[in-house]
Amino acid sequence: MAELTLTRICKSFGALDVIKGIDLEVRSGEFVVFVGPSGCGKSTLLRIIAGLEESTSGKLTIGGKDVTDAEPSKRGIAMVFQSYALYPHMTVAENIGFGLSLARRPKSEIEAKVRAAAETLQLIHLLDRKPKALSGGQRQRVAIGRAIVRDPKVFLFDEPLSNLDASLRAQMRLEIAELHTRLKTTMIYVTHDQVEAMTMADKIVVLNGGRVEQVGSPMELYRKPATPFVAGFIGSPKMNLYTGEVAQRFGCQTYGIRPEHIRLSQAKGAWQGRSDISSASAPMPSSIWMFRKSAKWWCGPKERPLLQRVPPFGRVRWKAQRTDSAFSRLVEPESEKTCLKKLA
Ligand SMILES: Nc1ncnc2c1ncn2[C@@H]1O[C@H](COP(=O)(O)OP(=O)(O)OP(=O)(O)O)[C@@H](O)[C@H]1O
Ligand SMILES: [Mg+2]
Repeated sequence: MAELTLTRICKSFGALDVIKGIDLEVRSGEFVVFVGPSGCGKSTLLRIIAGLEESTSGKLTIGGKDVTDAEPSKRGIAMVFQSYALYPHMTVAENIGFGLSLARRPKSEIEAKVRAAAETLQLIHLLDRKPKALSGGQRQRVAIGRAIVRDPKVFLFDEPLSNLDASLRAQMRLEIAELHTRLKTTMIYVTHDQVEAMTMADKIVVLNGGRVEQVGSPMELYRKPATPFVAGFIGSPKMNLYTGEVAQRFGCQTYGIRPEHIRLSQAKGAWQGRSDISSASAPMPSSIWMFRKSAKWWCGPKERPLLQRVPPFGRVRWKAQRTDSAFSRLVEPESEKTCLKKLA
């Protein structure tokens, strides 16, 4: 069942069109991630869903009800922001229960809900602390707790982890994913970190310039990007994209090949060239693969930069290969090849 539907949602700020007609369905219990470059309208779209921003036109339903003009508090949503803005003079318990106190819920209900949320988020032992005595990750969990006690139909997250350091971010990513598995509540999560998008989402919505470029599961977007924008945006390091003569050789408008899908061969291959990687000296541990842009690969008469995945030095007979023959070839395994042939 569709928990949330957006129909031709538009938003302009004065003369600036920011959201340009978005149609989207989010199913009940789904974890949906909005990704896209800075300024593409992710936060604006999330704020429209939350009711913090009015859409210029279009229709929004949550749980089958038209909430296009409904107050934020009447929508059954809870939002978690990047800056968690806890009240410094309140304890963790008071911060989590603050919304319920404002709504004048009975004390016993507030206590029970705060405890349940704190258990889910492993904050029980911290309930009497003030925010200044918490780590960044713990603070963010308190902010999520504030959302949980409201028992929303839909959680909205706007870059909730971008203030945290890399290791904490990885841990919180896991925690939010586990929270979703446990609560089974619909979640919409905005990020421009594509690792977050690829690892957390059931469904990714790629936005660009106020429009939806593509909607799909992480693997669909990776395997079958619908546009060069999506092809270049999903995947790290970026897919190699060529137009013009190279694309023509492969019979398409834009030709894309992911660095990780290229392997070396002495026998045959679409790309030919001389590698410059032997200039690197220290041997790498065998579990690490490197990505390298070499200027001396060609497909057709001209040399072109091609980002490729190369094996760790020392493990593969890389050096021998170089001395045996000045040329190596890059093979693209047919099954993995992503060719954007169908583009107009
Ligand atoms: N209140 C406003 N008034 C005028 N323009 C706005 C307003 N809010 C946002 N914008 C503009 O709308 C566009 C989309 O902004 P939005 O915050 O939705 O982007 P975003 O995708 O969330 O970007 P980021 O990844 O940087 O957070 C931007 O060009 C921004 O300048
Ligand atoms: Mg934003």
